[in-house]
Amino acid sequence: MQKTVGKLRLIAGTAILAFTVSLIYGCGRQPARAGYDIVPLPAETVFRNEEPFVIDRSVIIYTYSTDNGLKNASFLSDYINTVCGFRPTIIASPDLQVTEDNSGKPILLSVKPEVAPPDGYILEIGGGIIRITGSTDAGVFYGVQTLRKAMPESSAGRVEFPAATVTDSPRFPHRGFMLDVARSFFTVEQVKEFIDIMALHNLNIFHWHLTDDQGWRIEIDRYPELTEKGGFRAESSGMYGGYYTKADIKEVIAYAADKYIEVIPEIDLPGHTTAAIATYPHLGCTGGPYEITSLTGVRKDILCAGNPETYTFLENVFEEVAELFPSKYIHIGGDESPRTRWIECPKCQAKIRQEGLRADDHHTGEDYLQGYMNIYFEKFLKERGKTIIGWDEIVEGGLSPEATVMSWRGVEGGEIAARAGHDVIMSPNSHLYFDYYQSLDVDNEPAAFGGYVPLERVYHFDPVPEGLTPGEQKHIIGLQANLWSPWTRDYSIAQYMTLPRMAALAEVAWSYPGQRDFNDFTSRLSNLTKVYDNEGYNYRAEFFEIAPVYEIRPR
Ligand code: ACM
Ligand code: ZN
Repeated sequence: MQKTVGKLRLIAGTAILAFTVSLIYGCGRQPARAGYDIVPLPAETVFRNEEPFVIDRSVIIYTYSTDNGLKNASFLSDYINTVCGFRPTIIASPDLQVTEDNSGKPILLSVKPEVAPPDGYILEIGGGIIRITGSTDAGVFYGVQTLRKAMPESSAGRVEFPAATVTDSPRFPHRGFMLDVARSFFTVEQVKEFIDIMALHNLNIFHWHLTDDQGWRIEIDRYPELTEKGGFRAESSGMYGGYYTKADIKEVIAYAADKYIEVIPEIDLPGHTTAAIATYPHLGCTGGPYEITSLTGVRKDILCAGNPETYTFLENVFEEVAELFPSKYIHIGGDESPRTRWIECPKCQAKIRQEGLRADDHHTGEDYLQGYMNIYFEKFLKERGKTIIGWDEIVEGGLSPEATVMSWRGVEGGEIAARAGHDVIMSPNSHLYFDYYQSLDVDNEPAAFGGYVPLERVYHFDPVPEGLTPGEQKHIIGLQANLWSPWTRDYSIAQYMTLPRMAALAEVAWSYPGQRDFNDFTSRLSNLTKVYDNEGYNYRAEFFEIAPVYEIRPR
């Protein structure tokens, strides 16, 4: 008897609950509410004492009539469709006038350089209209992302936006993410999804690590063997590898450009080049043979810097790379290049003598030989309109002041470079290496390099070292997180290592240290993970981990 009453109560309770839910959400009567507690947190949100704006089927997106205007409007229409289940009409007009006569509720996209710093925007909601005004096309896009992230997970076709003015712009112009496709190969579709994920986090630089010891992934017309042979390696389960054709790469560049993301290729030299010298053994100091394997670590065998054919080879490669990528920068690597073979190699030693590269109290002749190569290819690429980026080792052997330095062995290399007048991108392994564990519960985590970079550590990173003068600080143009892929053969694990740490990266890129509050961030992160769920992204759902120590092993 007791049981039946309980059951009846349950049925009645369920009916009441269902009725209430249908009153709130059902039949589109009550819209779901949007909130501006998003990631990255906009610089300022001021609520206005006006009627909210309700997105429903009567909404029309009016946009400026350029390709970017139409594209931005089309992204917004797609995002509204994901949540509301319909795509608002888009109307493009060169001198848009929204008047009483315009039918439908307007969302108005426009560009006005004076509204905000580059990439910034103002989002004004209320008075029967939403205006997204960007300082640039990218600014409009970030305003659209803010509207997207403010929406609830789903709705019965209507979303109510509280009246407010949101003003926002990023702290840094260079907001990057690096994906290593040499250790694990990711398909074009997977790379494009990484670009979608970056766009969701308001990042704008995709650093594509295309060559390394474990594989050469970019098609070079002049050297087809580089990918046919150098793109594959023998593993116990068979051959593993792959590469991108030039058409694939153009497709990724265009896809990224649509989302205001620049693609920077990295062709590593003189180290991390086993795939190249295994294909062309005469380009190594010993002549080989060399083998491409999946082993990680630093290899002694690198390109011979005394052989003129090495320079011809790299010139031919960079000629094609510079032509293929519209980016301002080309990354030439420069990291982890032991001098072992160069010390023993007659060609390298002859080159050191010939160029007068003398050891001094700071550096060896071999250090200066790498500096010679850096300057050589910097000049070659400059003639093709490109600026080089290199890992922080490149400051060790002489460098032209125009080279940009990516600081990975902590921030010290970046500090030295900024003092010497170089632009710097901070990408320290201590805070921004996403191949490090994000939890100390390593038995239950996917394999990682080691080290420990929990979400909170990423969040508290400040890319601008305190010891720099204001003039030197201006050289810190931004930051970047790196996903090295020896441990992430599985694409969904690569996502897991990236998310939600990329959300912390995004907030560091967009905000100033005084504005950051980790507890507040994690509560907003719960809203962002609803977007992750909607999009089907894999991520680590436990945000907090109290860490007694941050143990960083040398790589
Ligand atoms: C690096 O992690 N070797 C740049
Ligand atoms: Zn040599």
